[in-house]
Amino acid sequence: MSGKDAPHMMWGGRFHEALDPDLLSFTSSFGTDRRLLRWDVVASIAHVQMLGATGIITDPDATAIASGLRALLADAASGELKIEGPYEDIHSFVEAALYQRLGPVAGRLHTARSRNDQVATAFRLFVKDQLVDLIALTIDLMKATVARAEATVDVLLPGFTHLQHAQPVRLAHHLLSYVWMLDRDADRMVESYRRADVLPLGSGALAGVSFPIDRQRVADALGFARLSDNSVDATGDRDFAVDAVAAAAQLMIHLSRWSEELVLWASDEFAFIALADRVATGSSLMPQKKNPDPVELIRGRTGRVCGALSALLTMLKGLPAGYSRDLQEDKEIVFEALDLVSASVRAMHTFLKGVTFSAARMGEAAHRGLLTATEIADYLVRKGMPFRDAHEVAGRVVQEALGRGCPLWELPLDVYTKITPLAGADILDAVRPLAAVEAKRVPGGTAKAAVQAQLADAHRQVAGRRAWAEEAARRMQRVAALGDRG
Ligand code: ARG
Repeated sequence: MSGKDAPHMMWGGRFHEALDPDLLSFTSSFGTDRRLLRWDVVASIAHVQMLGATGIITDPDATAIASGLRALLADAASGELKIEGPYEDIHSFVEAALYQRLGPVAGRLHTARSRNDQVATAFRLFVKDQLVDLIALTIDLMKATVARAEATVDVLLPGFTHLQHAQPVRLAHHLLSYVWMLDRDADRMVESYRRADVLPLGSGALAGVSFPIDRQRVADALGFARLSDNSVDATGDRDFAVDAVAAAAQLMIHLSRWSEELVLWASDEFAFIALADRVATGSSLMPQKKNPDPVELIRGRTGRVCGALSALLTMLKGLPAGYSRDLQEDKEIVFEALDLVSASVRAMHTFLKGVTFSAARMGEAAHRGLLTATEIADYLVRKGMPFRDAHEVAGRVVQEALGRGCPLWELPLDVYTKITPLAGADILDAVRPLAAVEAKRVPGGTAKAAVQAQLADAHRQVAGRRAWAEEAARRMQRVAALGDRG
């Protein structure tokens, strides 16, 4: 057999036998890395166009290979080309399918390239694209949460430390705390994107290539900001994958903490929130149940994402510089982690739409009576008492309130004045929850004006992030479109 009918082998010359089928299935990543198809094809098109433009292969050959690659991608999308077969990975599948279609000219594609720089390039494109999507989803959730905060500026609830009533805060302020966590996550993902934005193609197997290639042209076509500096490093570098998974894991941790809180808030003990039927599940046995399963699963799946980060780091720890086959395991880990986190951000967004905040339950809890004890101390400090003494005095007032079972603002004034002559009638106003909240006027505090300033900052931040994400998405779409037929 020869030409188009010959089975395609990447290393036929050196080998007399094909790989044992059991070992092929053990070593193959085809089932996983088929997701890289478009990015692999697009990177090959940029590469082959550069080979043509630099005269390393002829223009007609370059054109034939590029259109063959585009046809292959279209056929894969339509289902005409089945992405299956005894292949080691998506890269060998594409090469074989191209060979089937074009014959020996297909063999010119791999000029001045190795699978080591090829796979690193396709994977970086994939990670960049996924990060842009995940950042956009995160911005959606930020935006929805800012809107909820805007609508709940006048709702007070107890703020907690150690899960004990601490000081009253505005619900808006509490919700915005998650917006700033998500904002840091977006920041980390943008930084991960920046680190992934380096072109490894042109590194060959490890030493560079011996043809006069134009790496900058390939970087421009593929939308990479920079060229890798060292071919040994570039082929073995998966730091960008670690960065992406670490950023995603941190985001997942935030979602998990939020989930934990929502589970608590949905309990009868808190009853701070009510769940719409469409975001809860019932019990097969207990007819009264309404369970917050979606957020329990976000919390549960966080373990898998942290596991992915650990798996990736552990896979890397024993590898010398340059490519080792171990690196193939990066894809499955990254795919799983990014899929889980993307699905969780979406799920949290949908879940929150079905959450109703109970202003009544929160307000009642904020008015139970002792949350504003700090205000007594602050009041006395303003009258000149050192804070430590004031704290002690306030503690004595708390004892009195506990003994009488009444809130601090309903204690008779003479209870205060007997404990300290510095107390005036206005102390009874200062210990009201709303007054305590309004006293926190510092930037970042929970007073209404400070929260409104924070809301304005959050809106600006969301808009800025959105602009970045839309520009990055356009850039990735432009690169992806390199694989489309004109
Ligand atoms: N499937 C491999 C991977 O994902 C591709 C590179 C294989 N290179 C090699 N020399 N065997 O890492």
